[in-house]
Amino acid sequence: MEKNIIKVGVISCSNMAIGHMRGVIRHPKAELVAICDTDVEKMNRVGDMFGIERRYENYKDLLAQEDIDAVIIVTPDKLHKDMAVDALAANKHVLCEKPLALTREDCVDIANAVKKSDRKFMVGQICRYTPAFKAAKEIIDRGEIGELMFVESEYAHDYEKILKPGNWRWDPLRNGVVGGGCHAVDLLRWVAGDPEEVQAYSNHKIFDPALPYDDTTIAIMKFPNNIIGKVFVSVACKREYTMRSLFYGTKGTIICDNKSNKFELFKTNVNETTTEGLMPKQLNTEIPIEIPVAINNHNASAEFEEFASIILNDKEVTTTVYEGAKTVAACFAIVEAAETGKVVVPNYEF
Ligand SMILES: NC(=O)c1ccc[n+]([C@@H]2O[C@H](COP(=O)([O-])OP(=O)(O)OC[C@H]3O[C@@H](n4cnc5c(N)ncnc54)[C@H](O)[C@@H]3O)[C@@H](O)[C@H]2O)c1
Repeated sequence: MEKNIIKVGVISCSNMAIGHMRGVIRHPKAELVAICDTDVEKMNRVGDMFGIERRYENYKDLLAQEDIDAVIIVTPDKLHKDMAVDALAANKHVLCEKPLALTREDCVDIANAVKKSDRKFMVGQICRYTPAFKAAKEIIDRGEIGELMFVESEYAHDYEKILKPGNWRWDPLRNGVVGGGCHAVDLLRWVAGDPEEVQAYSNHKIFDPALPYDDTTIAIMKFPNNIIGKVFVSVACKREYTMRSLFYGTKGTIICDNKSNKFELFKTNVNETTTEGLMPKQLNTEIPIEIPVAINNHNASAEFEEFASIILNDKEVTTTVYEGAKTVAACFAIVEAAETGKVVVPNYEF
């Protein structure tokens, strides 16, 4: 790395990739030096927009560029494995979009490649950078709502405009639970730990029946420390995209989502407790404290800041390949539970 500047290549020129590119460009110690896409017209448009000269149709040509320190992989999910393994072999640090991969075998192959490499590998579980979710986790970790007893998140997103035959999302392995629902599952794993048991139901009422997976799923789960929880995933529901989430603790509650400029915190407050007769009355559990937050549903800049800081300061990765793989494993368990009607224990061995 010259003068502590990370030279970055972004693989794909999609809208999400543009978000990542902006994150790189804004960073004072990073430089966006190359881009890649098989859609040359799109790549040229994006290259012109950001003034990026080095453009590659084949990602292997980008990986062959010795001056590139790090790559961000933003391609369709089933391409992540080959690109991630090849990028590590080419000595690049890697930020790979979620879901890590669409099969257990691919997750294992990526994890093995990470084990063999001395490069940093981070999975882009971007909800960990959504301001409301980050603030909620900090409040929970400080013990402000006591011990968690119930956690819930939903991924409700109408895919009507993008989910068509021929699109890469129209693939049985790209079940809505794994592809998009992984956001809600990852959020609950991040806050409450790895689900130990899963039960689920799913239905298919909105999308073309030819879609090779159900469009709506509900899962209930047991987490460590006797926490119970629920995930709802729909790629068909008729409303604006939301990840409405709820965290019930023994001393308080957080209600938040990814699209609002505030969230609600209900708390018991010992100092304000009064007694009416013999019953303690907790004054403010009935009135929420409204906490303002920035709306930033795809906070790629914060995600890249963390990735850059890990590289520049040789820090441990927090959203490791195993974090990404365990989130995928919990999603696989939900799909299996819905298909079989049985209780499923997720397999977190990678
Ligand atoms: N973190 C998030 O919130 C979030 C949001 C959207 C997408 N994603 C993830 O980002 C990834 C891409 O999704 P998207 O919505 O941007 O997809 P998209 O379909 O909009 O774009 C994919 C791009 O990859 C390009 N591409 C396909 N094959 C390629 C190859 N072999 N080499 C180089 N480029 C290739 C396509 O031409 C296209 O430009 C997926 O893994 C998806 O799950 C994450």
